[in-house]
Amino acid sequence: MRLRQVEAADAGALFAYRSQPQVSRYQDWVPADTQEAAEFVARLSATEFATPGHWSQLALLLRDSGELVGDCGLHFLEPAGAQVAIGISLDPQHHAKGFATEALSAVLGYLFGQLERHRVFASVDPRNEASARLLRRLGFRQEAHFVQSYFFRGEWVDDLVFAMLRSEFKE
Ligand SMILES: CC(C)(COP(=O)(O)OP(=O)(O)OC[C@H]1O[C@@H](n2cnc3c(N)ncnc32)[C@H](O)[C@@H]1OP(=O)(O)O)[C@@H](O)C(=O)NCCC(=O)NCCS
Repeated sequence: MRLRQVEAADAGALFAYRSQPQVSRYQDWVPADTQEAAEFVARLSATEFATPGHWSQLALLLRDSGELVGDCGLHFLEPAGAQVAIGISLDPQHHAKGFATEALSAVLGYLFGQLERHRVFASVDPRNEASARLLRRLGFRQEAHFVQSYFFRGEWVDDLVFAMLRSEFKE
């Protein structure tokens, strides 16, 4: 795979998979149309990568064809961006091939290696089993299971928090 920041030309493909129920079911943000996806890409690519207090969005591409198969959001927390919240989405056509595992391994290597970040974490609805499996496969620790802590689409839902420290990261 090849990872780079999202750019304007990604909006159509990003909308095509992000709008599918299989991908949007547990996501806060779901684009209504390509225009909204384009605005999302424009907003995120306008900020320099790893700016504290901001999200950066990576495009996940197949190395050979250049096809956009997913994206990964990185929220560099204030004050210094030492802690990073992550989220990942993959086109359902490319689920269960190991692409998300490969992409997040590279992201972790970059965040903990080159950028020397302290902690990476993710928040997951427990019904989102593929996501929880992905994080466990990568070596994340489950730190919390909050019960009905998040009001999402008209109901109170549980929230799992997974985390990894730099000292826990294995290449
Ligand atoms: C979260 C998400 C990206 C995970 O995708 P995924 O396809 O399960 O993950 P991978 O691409 O790493 O594939 C791993 C699966 O493929 C299998 N696999 C096949 N070949 C593999 C390989 N070479 N390497 C690793 N896994 C491989 C694994 O066994 C695993 O299957 P399992 O979970 O049934 O054990 C995907 O479910 C998704 O886009 N969900 C919707 C968006 C979402 O809710 N995101 C969560 C926000 S945090």
